[in-house]
Amino acid sequence: MRSDLEKLKDEFLDAVKDVSDSLKLEELRVEYLGRKGKLSNIMKQLPEIAEGARKEMGQFANEIKTSIESSFSAAEQSLREREAHGKSENEWIDITAPGQAPEIGHMHLTSQAIEEVDELFSRLGFVRVRHPEVEWDWYAFESLNMPKTHPARDEWETFFMADGDKVLEGKKGKVVLTPHTSNGQAREMERGRIPIRMININKCYRRQSDVTHAPMFHQFEGLMIDEKVTIAELRGVLDFFAQNFFGPERKTRLRPHHFRFTEPSFEIDITCEVCGGVGKIEEIKCRMCKEGWLELGGAGMVHPNVIKAGGLDPEKYSGFAFGWGVERTMMMKSGLNIDDIRILYRNDLRFLKQF
Ligand code: DAH
Repeated sequence: MRSDLEKLKDEFLDAVKDVSDSLKLEELRVEYLGRKGKLSNIMKQLPEIAEGARKEMGQFANEIKTSIESSFSAAEQSLREREAHGKSENEWIDITAPGQAPEIGHMHLTSQAIEEVDELFSRLGFVRVRHPEVEWDWYAFESLNMPKTHPARDEWETFFMADGDKVLEGKKGKVVLTPHTSNGQAREMERGRIPIRMININKCYRRQSDVTHAPMFHQFEGLMIDEKVTIAELRGVLDFFAQNFFGPERKTRLRPHHFRFTEPSFEIDITCEVCGGVGKIEEIKCRMCKEGWLELGGAGMVHPNVIKAGGLDPEKYSGFAFGWGVERTMMMKSGLNIDDIRILYRNDLRFLKQF
């Protein structure tokens, strides 16, 4: 038994030398010192030893055990040091090296314009709302004083919601994708919170797709309703917007026009940035504009029929409305001259990243 124990110790010392990771070391510990390990196997011989020599043999076995244990701890310690050292080698970083900045995205240029429009009108107390994009015919057309025969109401201009071949219809008429943000007018009046200063910015849909039209686009619709609102207020609001959005030197004009939902109605023009509103540059006709003016969008004094449709008394209340395309307004500001407006919504990052 004595020689078995000595052999065991030598064997262990030999094996522990080659261990290079803590998992193997643990395996070795179990193999030699574990409950069913080699040492306890040898210890099974102890009862067979003659009584006189047994105690001495027991002591010797203990010494061997202690010796194996201490070389095990030594190996464990040096392994731990080696591993810690290796870790700091492997995970070393140069904190003085220039960093890799993460790529930072940004809002789509239409969203940027919407934020700016929203911010400017909020300074005048206009509250941004979003009235539905999927809408009843009543709000999109009927309440806006548009006759049943109006061309916008046939299927060549407007998207109708359908279940198979059947156009969806409910208590307020057919269901359409709003072709303009004017649907917000009657909806806002129905809420009955007077005075109204609303800016409804939303997606609009029309059956059109060419270089100057996308089937989905955006409009912002302003509506102000109160007692005794006049064209003077309309002008004030439009000038405020034009000068803050486009620049302090820009001027607006109202040009008579016709819309079913306003009376009188106007097209709003703004002085051209290129020729400064003159229409000519050194006797040569400006190529950007028509005689110094660019067309921004429609506006007018809300028609009494529309006020009535919104549930208010047109004898008591008056107001103005305007509705412009976000994309068009934004492109006029940036001077962005793109040959196909649909590129805005093709998700081509090479284009979008530029803004
Ligand atoms: N809804 C009109 C369109 O999409 C634009 C418009 C014109 C809105 C005059 C208005 C307005 O509020 O007063 O073409």
